[in-house]
Amino acid sequence: MCGIIGITSRPGKVPESPAFIVRKGLERLEYRGYDSVGVASIVDYSIIVRKGKGKIKDVNRRKHLDRVPGYTIIGHTRWATHGRPSDVNAHPHIDCNGVIAVVHNGIIQNYLELREKLTKLGHKFRSETDTEVIAHLIEHFISEGLKPYDAFKKAIRSLKGSFALGVLISSEKDKIFFARKDSPLIIGLGDGYNFIASDIPAFLEYTRKVIIVHDFEVGYITPDSVHLENVLTGEVIDINKRIHVIDWTPDMAAKGGYPHFMLKEIHEQPRALKDTIHGLGVEVENAIKLIMNANRIFITAAGTSFHAGLVGDYLFNILAGYTSIPFIASEYSKYKNSVGEGDVLIAISQSGETIDTLMALRLFKKLGAKVIAISNVVGSAIPRESDVTVYTRAGPEIGVAATKTFTSQVMVLSWIAVKLAYYTGRIDETTYKSLLGDLHRVPELANKTLTLVEGETKLIGEEISDRHSVYYLGRGIGVPIALEGALKLKEIAYIHAEAYPAGESKHGPIALVEDGFPVIFIIVEDEMKKHILGNIEEMKARGAYTIGVVSDEDKEARKLLDRAITVPYIEPVFSPIIYIIPLQLLAYYTAVKKGYDPDKPRNLAKTVTVE
Ligand code: G6P
Repeated sequence: MCGIIGITSRPGKVPESPAFIVRKGLERLEYRGYDSVGVASIVDYSIIVRKGKGKIKDVNRRKHLDRVPGYTIIGHTRWATHGRPSDVNAHPHIDCNGVIAVVHNGIIQNYLELREKLTKLGHKFRSETDTEVIAHLIEHFISEGLKPYDAFKKAIRSLKGSFALGVLISSEKDKIFFARKDSPLIIGLGDGYNFIASDIPAFLEYTRKVIIVHDFEVGYITPDSVHLENVLTGEVIDINKRIHVIDWTPDMAAKGGYPHFMLKEIHEQPRALKDTIHGLGVEVENAIKLIMNANRIFITAAGTSFHAGLVGDYLFNILAGYTSIPFIASEYSKYKNSVGEGDVLIAISQSGETIDTLMALRLFKKLGAKVIAISNVVGSAIPRESDVTVYTRAGPEIGVAATKTFTSQVMVLSWIAVKLAYYTGRIDETTYKSLLGDLHRVPELANKTLTLVEGETKLIGEEISDRHSVYYLGRGIGVPIALEGALKLKEIAYIHAEAYPAGESKHGPIALVEDGFPVIFIIVEDEMKKHILGNIEEMKARGAYTIGVVSDEDKEARKLLDRAITVPYIEPVFSPIIYIIPLQLLAYYTAVKKGYDPDKPRNLAKTVTVE
């Protein structure tokens, strides 16, 4: 996830210089990533680029981004996805002749293929990014005789993946070309100046009049006009019908209109899942090769990432017939005498910096094992020290409680498990395609889930906010969901919450249950469901207040439960991504009802770097 901004203005129409406004806008977008930053401006029909690795403040000090001349400027703050943070990989990216500059947020899925074709045609690439192909592609189409805007549109039609784009072409001195698919892009309308940006706070100080660009829309802004059209149909859009005037405060705007980052990030999950799928490529194949050649597979992580690891463990067993050994990272020393060459460790870490996971990784490497990392931060310590890294593309997570990074990790692990099952002959091609199809549909189902469950979870969250203890029970794939649900409630609502395999509840935990004690059941539509129904009966008989997350195909559990939260049916093995959403929201609304700040829970840190 990155932040883009562009302004084109007539001289004297904005109170500060355009470069200064771009720098300020980038700072407001810094929540989207800040490992490198850059700007490009058109001056006298040529393009000036200034960019570098580091935070906006530091790069600005070195390269004076906010003193770039010109009235048509684009800027970018980067959160690396392809190619580690560096001066060369920072945006804007330019074509061979430096007459086209591109800033991009998203992932170009087919960039390798395009890069290969363009290299054969003689184009010289400077960076490791997926973005650079766009500049060369436009250059290529212009060299074939197309006009700049037509070349831009043709380039857009050649791209697969997700993008919000801002493009300068030196011959078009006051135009910023833009396009959007799956990554946010907003136009801001001024008097004698116009903006594009990833998010409203970037230009909120200068205008409240906005147009939300939709998927497959392209166009350009000049200081006095906006051209918008559908790139597939060519239909030109009447912008007057699309203008909104917003009344957000700057703080609301930074959170995309949500009261907290956690709620915003919960709602970002469909996008994070889609980007994660789009970003999966050759690394997954490399990871699978290591797994297939392994003597034993270990999985390690801390906190929420460990729960994703438990989902992975379940799927490796159930789908691919591989036994794995999951362990909590801080317990690594247990393996100091038993691990060796031929073993493979899968280390999962959102931040890529958690010390326990890093220490486990180092021990395994020292003992001769290979390491596969799953991380959300390109170039962080754990990926750097691993043999192969598969990245999640959730974007920066600001809320301390992990939400979108968990579901993205589960997506990666599910993807690996399905491929592993196919490559080892466990499933035939039809099943393989059908399971990958299910995974492709998950972002849309996550969207549907958010709409379906928000009201109910708020109500239940308010109901349980005065309780001291809650149980979460599940079976099979439901166990890691229960563990993660309980962790969320503990972390941000400060309610004692325990998760158990439901069968285990009779071996002790049930002793605590009395009238009104909340028990939350994870009810997945698989062969273990009949036993969960029995567990609901047992808890009801002791007076428990029974709450369940159930599929919309369920006919039985809903009748038994005091409260049912209905989610759309999903292939049971992929249920964690969908079932965890109401549990994240439940924790969130409970915390809010109790007056706590869910973004900054007491005693916790987003990244734990001390053992
Ligand atoms: C901390 C955070 C958790 C996170 C865990 C692991 O405890 O508060 O939300 O799950 O670290 O972090 P990682 O970055 O390694 O996934």
